[in-house]
Amino acid sequence: MILKLNVVVLAAGKGTRMVSSLPKVLHKLAGKPLLSHVLDTARSLACENLQVVTGFGSELVEQTLGDQANRFVLQKEQLGTAHAVAQTIPYLEDDALVLILYGDVPLIQKTTLEALLDKVDENHMGVLTCTVTDPKGLGRIIRNNNGQITSIVEEKDATPEQKAIAEINTGFMAIPVNRLKTWLPKIEANNAQKEYYLTDLVEIALADGCSVVTSDCENQQEITGINNRAQLAELERIYQQNMHTEFMNNGVSLADPARFDVRGNVTIAPDVEIDINVILEGEVNISSHVKIGAGCILKNCSVGEGTQLHPYTVIEDAVIGKNCQLGPFARVRPGTELKDSAKLGNFVEIKKSIIGEGSKVNHLSYIGDAELGDNVNVGAGTITCNYDGVNKYKTMIGNEVFIGSNAVLIAPLEIKDGGFIAAGSTITKPVARDQLAIGRSRQSNIDGWKRPESNKK
Ligand code: UD1
Ligand code: CA
Repeated sequence: MILKLNVVVLAAGKGTRMVSSLPKVLHKLAGKPLLSHVLDTARSLACENLQVVTGFGSELVEQTLGDQANRFVLQKEQLGTAHAVAQTIPYLEDDALVLILYGDVPLIQKTTLEALLDKVDENHMGVLTCTVTDPKGLGRIIRNNNGQITSIVEEKDATPEQKAIAEINTGFMAIPVNRLKTWLPKIEANNAQKEYYLTDLVEIALADGCSVVTSDCENQQEITGINNRAQLAELERIYQQNMHTEFMNNGVSLADPARFDVRGNVTIAPDVEIDINVILEGEVNISSHVKIGAGCILKNCSVGEGTQLHPYTVIEDAVIGKNCQLGPFARVRPGTELKDSAKLGNFVEIKKSIIGEGSKVNHLSYIGDAELGDNVNVGAGTITCNYDGVNKYKTMIGNEVFIGSNAVLIAPLEIKDGGFIAAGSTITKPVARDQLAIGRSRQSNIDGWKRPESNKK
């Protein structure tokens, strides 16, 4: 019989060793809260009911991730893993299997959990085990002469012989809910830590005629929990290395994988070249033959085929077309769209603007709330004055417009196709098709000019 799946994620622990006002499970790995990694994995299984047990900082956890689970259940006092699971009992479905996950064990993989779930049904409870190099502090798997699991012994309750066992309890378990309901009340806190141990379920299940099966997790990273910031940094590196390997296997060149970080849902096409110290965040989509220079930071954006991002280009919430050139030192702010073959040079800031096909803003400019047509040339130092201190206005610039250096374009303003703005102009009135606009005072030259003399004697 195939049972449906409920999931319980334990996340009540304070995480004292993080030395933080933030609950441990909200600390971020690859830009995403630890708990969020686990909830994403849970939802990738066919999970019908997702419960999270919170304790320390429960309001903040629920506020931050409230839409990612069916319910957040408060465990007022942390009296042990069995006590934590017991809090969710009223909300679990009798005809389901419950899978127990941990909010501070973020790298567990879907396939590993599926392998465990495959072995479990109404008459088989499952425990995910792992053979580790250093089992210190973890629950040991005790087996009989037939190799069958008989119990789990916590480090603090273990004999020296048991401590020598390298096969450990990962904590991940899958249990039929109807049986769990009868077993949990049998768990007592008569152990070294005076806690209600979920691990006691093994003996209780066996005594109740239910088989206990184990599934082995080969990859220790997946079951590694985070207790302090050093472990968090370690798992971050592991996560990044896994991503790098995947990218490189898919045809992406990384100048140095140790100096490239991905924090979000990132897709990179083959033949993309990425130099050192690049960070990609949020939803990022990089098309083929894009070159990303050193120190570029990209957040929530797409970059079209063949585009080159020169060093230290920063892009956020923007769409960049094909064969564009940006930077070095270009800043593209939210709401910007660059059409194909557009060019932004150094120290150029673009905000909430459309830059037309083949248009160029090459040096030291600010373009905000503007729409530029195709093949526009914006001279050095040009600024759109889009803000009067209260309201923002738009600057509309047609095709083939030429804007001389150091122009000040005071919005609202429209410059029609072919318009030509003389260098140094302050433009306040609309410019019609093919007009030349000059908005600057005339130069006057004075003969025989005497320079001021110094007052010092
Ligand atoms: C537990 C297992 C141990 C296993 C280890 C793997 C028990 C008794 N022991 O050990 O066999 O090797 O995990 O890491 O289950 N939590 C709550 N509420 C509580 C207690 C814990 O939500 O009252 C959460 C914690 O936040 C944490 C997880 O459960 O995410 C595990 O708790 P922890 O105290 O680290 O478990 P251990 O006793 O170390
Ligand atoms: Ca622990």
